[in-house]
Amino acid sequence: QFRIGTAVAGGGHHTSADYPEPFPNDPTYRAFLADQFSSLTAENQMKWNHIHPEPDRYDFEQADAIVDFAEQNGQVVRGHTLFWHSQNPTWLEEGDFSPEELRAILRDHVETVVGRYAGRIQQWDVANEIFDDAGQLRTQDNLWIRELGPGIVADVFRWTHEADPQAELFFNDYNVEGPNAKSDAYHALIQQLLADGVPVHGFGMQAHLGLQYGFDGRMQANLQRFDDLGLATAITEIDVRGPVGEDGQLSPELRQRQTDWYAAALEACLAVEGCRSFTIWGVLDEHSWVPGTFPGQGDALTLEGDYQRKPAYCALQETL
Ligand code: XIL
Repeated sequence: QFRIGTAVAGGGHHTSADYPEPFPNDPTYRAFLADQFSSLTAENQMKWNHIHPEPDRYDFEQADAIVDFAEQNGQVVRGHTLFWHSQNPTWLEEGDFSPEELRAILRDHVETVVGRYAGRIQQWDVANEIFDDAGQLRTQDNLWIRELGPGIVADVFRWTHEADPQAELFFNDYNVEGPNAKSDAYHALIQQLLADGVPVHGFGMQAHLGLQYGFDGRMQANLQRFDDLGLATAITEIDVRGPVGEDGQLSPELRQRQTDWYAAALEACLAVEGCRSFTIWGVLDEHSWVPGTFPGQGDALTLEGDYQRKPAYCALQETL
């Protein structure tokens, strides 16, 4: 079954005046989620800083709410994420732990979080953004790789698999839509891990696209080469941002290009056998992380204002 997904709003660093922090209770939002999407990703609520805010304390409230909601509405959940250089709690990043302690902390986290939702998560983004754009492992900013060495990547996949043997285990990253140094690095690493018998099942392309950067027309071919390794693939976080005017909107010309890119990305995914989900990184523009993270940019999602459909929304529907 092919699934269209979205990131469930809530719990970001960014603040906008009327942005609902927890998984919104807003009935219109919830009805729209239930009606329009068949896969949900927690935008922030399963990240370390949210779910494991203190060394001996986990906070599952928000994540539970999302998983329960998905179940009630016949949706699947993509778990996001277990191993990343960003959005880690201060106690972890600034703690003075020995390598043995860090290994135990990571393993315990995986067993606790993955174990809690075992059987209820379709795909886990186990490792997120472990390579930089030059295709080098993030040996400095990823604390796990820095302190424990590259071998820890295989271990976190093994531990996740033990905690939930049914979940499909993914690598996930941005700037990997086309063949390039970064996606080549993933391709090589995954081949090696598979040869070593490590449980890796999928490759996720975030697809945070910027209209100023261009769209790599080789997306389908690139998805295909991961498919050829026997992996599932997915578009996991798509948004298409660009410079906006004072009204917060792209020019008509850029909007047209945005519409074309959304449709082209969906087409690429639909053309590849094992690419069975396409997740947009939020519902309404007002939920989007883009304006807070990339000043002067926005208009990146497919719905604006009060659930008004943008041309991109219609183009996706026509492409399906
Ligand atoms: C972003 C969220 O959308 C923001 O709310 C948060 O402040 C920062 O993280 N790659 C990822 C996502 O894998 O988890 C990021 O989400 C966007 C980039």
